[in-house]
Amino acid sequence: MSGTPFRRLFPPTLCMRKIDPETVRQILDTANIVDVVSDYVSLKRRGANYIGLCPFHNERTPSFSVSPARGICKCFSCGKGGAPVNFLMELEQMTFQEALRYLAKKYNIEIKEHEVTEEERARENERESMWAVNDFALSHFCDNLTNNPDGKAIGLAYFRERGISDAMIERFKLGYALDRSTALYEAARAKGFEEKYLISTGLCARSDRGGVYDRFRGRVMYPVHSISGKVVAFGGRTLRTDKQMAKYVNSPESAIYHKSNQLYGLYQAKRAIVERGKCILVEGYMDVISMHQAGIQNVVASSGTSLTEEQIRLIHRFTENVTVIYDSDAAGIKASLRGIDMLLAEGLNIKVLLLPEGDDPDSYAQHHSNSEVEAYISENETDFIRFKTRTLLSEKDSDDPIRRADLINDILRSVSLIPDLVKRQVYIAECSRAFGIDEKSLSLQLSRIVAGKIEADDKAAQRKVAAESLRKSAEDAPRDSVQSAATDASEAFLQPYERNVLRYLVRYALCEFCDTDDGNGGVEPMTVLQYVRAEMARDGLEFSSSVHKNVLQAIKETVATWPTARTGILQRLVQERDEAIQSGMASLREADNLTVAAISAREAAIRSEADSRYAAAADSAALDYVCRTLCSSPDDEIRHLCTDLSVDRYHLSKVHTKHTRLETERESLVRLVPRAIFEWKAALLELMIKELRGRLNALTASDDASTLLKEMMRLTDLRSEFARYLGERTITPRKI
Ligand code: CTP
Ligand code: MN
Repeated sequence: MSGTPFRRLFPPTLCMRKIDPETVRQILDTANIVDVVSDYVSLKRRGANYIGLCPFHNERTPSFSVSPARGICKCFSCGKGGAPVNFLMELEQMTFQEALRYLAKKYNIEIKEHEVTEEERARENERESMWAVNDFALSHFCDNLTNNPDGKAIGLAYFRERGISDAMIERFKLGYALDRSTALYEAARAKGFEEKYLISTGLCARSDRGGVYDRFRGRVMYPVHSISGKVVAFGGRTLRTDKQMAKYVNSPESAIYHKSNQLYGLYQAKRAIVERGKCILVEGYMDVISMHQAGIQNVVASSGTSLTEEQIRLIHRFTENVTVIYDSDAAGIKASLRGIDMLLAEGLNIKVLLLPEGDDPDSYAQHHSNSEVEAYISENETDFIRFKTRTLLSEKDSDDPIRRADLINDILRSVSLIPDLVKRQVYIAECSRAFGIDEKSLSLQLSRIVAGKIEADDKAAQRKVAAESLRKSAEDAPRDSVQSAATDASEAFLQPYERNVLRYLVRYALCEFCDTDDGNGGVEPMTVLQYVRAEMARDGLEFSSSVHKNVLQAIKETVATWPTARTGILQRLVQERDEAIQSGMASLREADNLTVAAISAREAAIRSEADSRYAAAADSAALDYVCRTLCSSPDDEIRHLCTDLSVDRYHLSKVHTKHTRLETERESLVRLVPRAIFEWKAALLELMIKELRGRLNALTASDDASTLLKEMMRLTDLRSEFARYLGERTITPRKI
């Protein structure tokens, strides 16, 4: 599962231009989820679906399900999956465009590229040019190291002295910048590279007097590769021991380099990280290189700064397990304990490893064999929470009761960041043992911390909303009062109801599920989308969440393209039917010993089977179309939500018997869809009542309450009606 055959097929530069939308359509139509997944997972048929072992996590019993009808796959255990593009993006760490290219190649679809605008081209050209200049600088620095007398005598000698092998020099493309002010500048200009790109990459800089000089002089050079292997920056280390001189000079931020989005060594380490299911985090360039040299390749460096969220997410794309290695000085440990909370919050499993006094990963790896380093890691890496407990408990004042309470709270705060409930419980049990406090009290305290956090988050959100509405009201006309009452809290309250309505739209937008009168005494079929839109328009409803709005918009847009797409799809289905009939006939011709009557009976059977298959496929084509299109949307939010909504959560456990047939969801739409709309409206009503109650409470004696009271009565009447419809107990509010 590891490794990316894809990367070998397409060198990075090929993935630059956008694929033409028509081709995208064709690729998405052609890609077959069973096909695509089968390249990675061995699938078994189960009913209408297929199941297999999930490629995203380790498991013994299959919970990975593939639905050919919907064109999606999903793991019911870890939740990963989606349409073919999404599956590839997650599994192979491809971008959307890369996944499309992979599929095009797989299905022999010729790619037409989209005409890029002048501006897009200019921006792309700029980045291309910067990569090109960096590539040149890379070979220049490497060449210095092996061929230039100074480079050999100074740079290469330095690496030799630090015990770095030629193989590592080659793998990490280490180099040397000559100690002259324009060595690179002149070499690059002579090759025709433009000065502006030398400056925008930061390889050179302009002096006060207007001259241009090299940024890196007399330094050994460590290139920084992006995840796909492009050189985006350099770090240069001085060889002098002079304390005045900065030890490292690094490339500045640029259009191709954002320090907080890069991890040193990830390009060289990513395969090993996936293979070993773990990433080791160290501090510096040399740590990564020496560890590699010792045969431990799943190592990356944060380059001296504290980890950023982007970097953590980068690691998370490849593994959930991180081991952080520290030098063992006490101040460093305490400082980094804080940084690790961020890793916990991202849901990563963190272990910590302390090296023997006086060692860093570089020196330790240099002085020990591969098996010694491996053994040291596996024997000494400690679960982070356990490590933190132990470190804090070993402090000299940890017996003091108040100090001890602080320590426990400190640890519980870290535990509270772990998203997984079960893991949290395990840690509670451990802390209980370590501190000799019963689990119940610790759990209680933990839930207090979690609640406090939620409250703090809520307050922050409220402040944000308040600030936002202040800004808005200053900017333009006052908004309508119902609208402005819609705070984050009400949005959260409405979320599940909106989601339920959207779910039917994603799955059945084009399904004609009921009849409506056509205005001339006849009836006309109505689709789920038409029905929902009509209901929304009737009461002036809108989704409150912006993602939901976007998905609705995407559904409308997709449905609008259906008539055109339909022609092509039906043509394909007719062709498939004819082919099925022909191949059936061909095998009939090969059969011997058949009577004429038997032959014509078989012939009729072949035709009728092909016909009914065609009819079924044509029937579901409309539903599949919306679902497939949305589940392959280039927009991450839309794609993820729609994938979630289009999966049957229960079909794995559903009992299939020969005798009973469960009524399918599709057959029940006529009940289900109006109910979903109704529940949503009931929830909105609930909010309006709440808001009105607030206004009534705030009234002063001189205000006239009668209109508000009338409105309140109207709403509560409506609510009882709704409740009857929904078949719930009617609850009359006690007091208004
Ligand atoms: N670093 C940096 N700029 C500095 C100092 C440090 O970018 N001025 C980053 C580098 O990525 C460096 C890491 O922080 O690799 C760790 O710094 P340090 O421990 O000082 O350097 P080492 O990598 O250990 O370098 P060496 O062993 O060669 O002294
Ligand atoms: Mn070092």
